[in-house]
Amino acid sequence: MTMKISVLNGPNLQLLGSRKVEIYGHVTLETIEKRLREVARELNVEMSFMQSNHEGVLVDAIAAAKADGCDGIVINPAAYTHYSVAIRDAIEAVKLPAIEVHLSNIHAREGFRHDSVTAPVCIGQIAGLGADGYEWAFRALVNFIQKQQNATRN
Ligand code: DQA
Repeated sequence: MTMKISVLNGPNLQLLGSRKVEIYGHVTLETIEKRLREVARELNVEMSFMQSNHEGVLVDAIAAAKADGCDGIVINPAAYTHYSVAIRDAIEAVKLPAIEVHLSNIHAREGFRHDSVTAPVCIGQIAGLGADGYEWAFRALVNFIQKQQNATRN
């Protein structure tokens, strides 16, 4: 069966390309989606991609990923990273491997960005590599799931 990955983006990421370009760069979310669609095609993986400014919509999207038979999640929870227990609980509840991605290096920014409440329920975090981080997160997740599937087959 074809692997399925859900890519979720939190608040204000629809503004990429014009928002704080010195921190987030010039690449738009649309360009990131296009690139990931190319990578998904290359890896023969199905991908859904969404952005929402609303916490509950993201919680629903995490539950929907499970219900729709997705194998894993790439998520940039944006500002919710730092305080959304609801998103953290949703990731933990679905028991899908998730990789958290941030364009900026949150650990080198303001103190309130250093903590992620969501990272502990993810298999890993990629931060500070700009838009490319999405591609690395996607490839790493596919690789992780493939290894997991091979291990259960043997
Ligand atoms: C971000 C980092 C967050 O602290 C911030 O609130 C964002 C974007 C990033 O991708 O670097 O909106 O998640």
